[in-house]
Amino acid sequence: MTLKGRTAVITGGASGIGAAIARLFAAEGARIVVGDISSAAESVVQSLVDADRPALYLPTDVTSESSVAELMDVAEEKFGRLDVLVANAGVPEEKTPIHELDLVAWQRVIDIDLTGVAISNKYAARKMLAVGGGSIINMASILGHVGQANSTAYSAAKAAVVNFTRSTALTYAQDNLRVNCVSPGYVNTPLIENLPAETRGRIIERMPIGRLLEPEEIADVVLFLASDASSSITGAAINADGGYTAI
Ligand SMILES: NC(=O)c1ccc[n+]([C@@H]2O[C@H](COP(=O)([O-])OP(=O)(O)OC[C@H]3O[C@@H](n4cnc5c(N)ncnc54)[C@H](O)[C@@H]3O)[C@@H](O)[C@H]2O)c1
Repeated sequence: MTLKGRTAVITGGASGIGAAIARLFAAEGARIVVGDISSAAESVVQSLVDADRPALYLPTDVTSESSVAELMDVAEEKFGRLDVLVANAGVPEEKTPIHELDLVAWQRVIDIDLTGVAISNKYAARKMLAVGGGSIINMASILGHVGQANSTAYSAAKAAVVNFTRSTALTYAQDNLRVNCVSPGYVNTPLIENLPAETRGRIIERMPIGRLLEPEEIADVVLFLASDASSSITGAAINADGGYTAI
C-alpha cells in the first residue's frame, strides 16, 4: 500500500479520470476527499466507504477560493493532515475558430481549467507546508504541449498548467513539496463516450497506440507521482498519451 496513512484531495473525482484516481488511491491505503461540483461524487465516495475505505465528499467549485479553502480545511479536520492533491477538475471546450471566439465561453474554461488549478494548489500548499511537505499532481493534457485547430481556451489553459507546474515546483523544491503534472492523451471517459461514433473513430485514428486510454491507466501514473517512488521528480509533465506527442 504505497499511500498508507496519507490523505489525498482529488478535485473532479465524480467521474472519469478523477473517479479512477479516487478508487486506486483508496486501494493503496489513502484517506480520500473528493471535491466536485457534481453530486455524482456521492456514489463514488459511497462505494469506497462500503469497502471500509475512509472517504468523504464535499461539494466544491474549484473556481471559488472560499469553496476550495473549505475543502482543504475539511480534509485536515477530518483526517488530520493533507499529503496529496490531485487538481484534476476540468471541462472541455466548444471548438471554435478564434475569429468567432465567445469570450464568455473562453473565460469559463480558463476559470475552471487554469484558475481552478491555481486556487487548489494555493490552499493545498498551505496545508502541506504546515506538515513538512507533500505531492501535488495537476491534470494537464496533450493539448498543453501540441496545438489543435479550433482549440482556444483549452489549449491555452492546459499549456499554462504545464508551466505553472514547473514554476510552482521550483518555488517549493526545498520544502519537500513536489509539484508535477500529467498530460493524458484521449481517455475513455464520458467526455469522449458522448461524441458521435464518427468523431470517436477519428480520435482513435490519431492515437499511435491505436486505441483510447482507460482512466485507470492515467490513475497509475498519478499514483506514481503521488508516492515516494517518484521522490526525484518535481516540475515534470508526464505524457500519458499512447505516443500522441511522440510524432
Ligand atoms: N478524457 C480525456 O480524454 C482527457 C484528456 C486529457 C486531459 N483530460 C483532463 O483530465 C481531467 C478529467 O477529465 P475527465 O475526462 O475525467 O472528465 P469528466 O468530465 O469525466 O470529469 C471532470 C470532473 O470535473 C468536475 N468539475 C467540472 N467543473 C468543476 C468545478 N468548477 N469545480 C469542481 N469540479 C468540477 C466535473 O463535475 C467532473 O466530475 C480534466 O482536467 C481534463 O481536461 C481529459
